[in-house]
Amino acid sequence: MKRTQEMTSVQPDWENFLPRPISDKIPFFSRDGRVYDCLFAQQFSRDLLAHLFRTADALREVTQKKGGADHVSSLLSDKRAMLYFAQPSTRTFMSFLNACHILGMKTSEIRDTSTSSEVKGETPEDTVRTFSSYVDMIIMRHPTPGFVEKTAWLMNRTGRPVPVVNGGSGKDQHPTQALLDTYTLYRSFNGELDNKHIVMVGDLKRGRTVRSLSYLMKNYKNISLSFVSPKEFRMEADILDFLKRHGIPYQETEDFAGVMRTADAIYMTRIQDEHDKAGESKGVDYSPFYFRQEHLKQIKKTCVILHPLPRRHEIEVSVDDDPRAVFWRQERNGMWARAALMAHIFGVDEKIA
Ligand code: CP
Repeated sequence: MKRTQEMTSVQPDWENFLPRPISDKIPFFSRDGRVYDCLFAQQFSRDLLAHLFRTADALREVTQKKGGADHVSSLLSDKRAMLYFAQPSTRTFMSFLNACHILGMKTSEIRDTSTSSEVKGETPEDTVRTFSSYVDMIIMRHPTPGFVEKTAWLMNRTGRPVPVVNGGSGKDQHPTQALLDTYTLYRSFNGELDNKHIVMVGDLKRGRTVRSLSYLMKNYKNISLSFVSPKEFRMEADILDFLKRHGIPYQETEDFAGVMRTADAIYMTRIQDEHDKAGESKGVDYSPFYFRQEHLKQIKKTCVILHPLPRRHEIEVSVDDDPRAVFWRQERNGMWARAALMAHIFGVDEKIA
């Protein structure tokens, strides 16, 4: 993959690079008209999303037969990926791992930084640079906002850059979750993503999935968003500003029962108390932000219920049996959507028929 003109001519310091608008940074993280480092939901255009969804559909279809699965697993059999997850994860880790295997990539992993030489005082920056000595892609989750981006920026300045994929960075972004969430909407609505009312519920302040999903919604026409949260955990101003700039109407409310009636999709999230600094979550009444069996009678017949999972008490378990509850399909969709993304990054997506 060749570096773009923008990349080779401008090599800013991290301190100068970090505050730039995302739109200015995107060329630095692209190659040959493709996403190279997948860091922000803003990197996904409507056309790219449509292409990735078609690729994901093709992958799930073609791998149903052994011949197809063998062909797909030969596409990246010369590549190795490192999964560096410095924060807990079940489905992002598992879906990326299995997506790599579907495409034939070999994988290695660090899931506990106490087993890496960081305990000897090596900086996280030097640690991730070390990975690139051995692998062709780094997929990472990190608790520090911006650290995944910094890793990609750093890699792009080395003699051996490798693509970096953001599997969740702090409270900041989770772009591949937004990709699979939108893929789930695409499959639920037979490919028609315009003209939808989407209700996001829960801890919207610290939920990186709802932040990234809000960014992706700019790609679709006539979208309206309702944000339902405790007053302590309302959606942050940067996302609301983004929606205003892109002319996407939104409302903030605590009236969950009121907005669910007109929803096309309800996106439930849990309280993100792992980000508490001084027990902020204690004392917050989360009980109104709970989807119960009785709500199934109040929502549209075509409305779908999503959740990035893991779940605590946001959705009554008996709701799982309703065909409108798509969150178990959603997590499996993550494997196909992530495989499609990696095929795109390495330029083998056109070989998946
Ligand atoms: N949705 C999600 O990111 O789940 P994990 O934390 O289990 O990866």
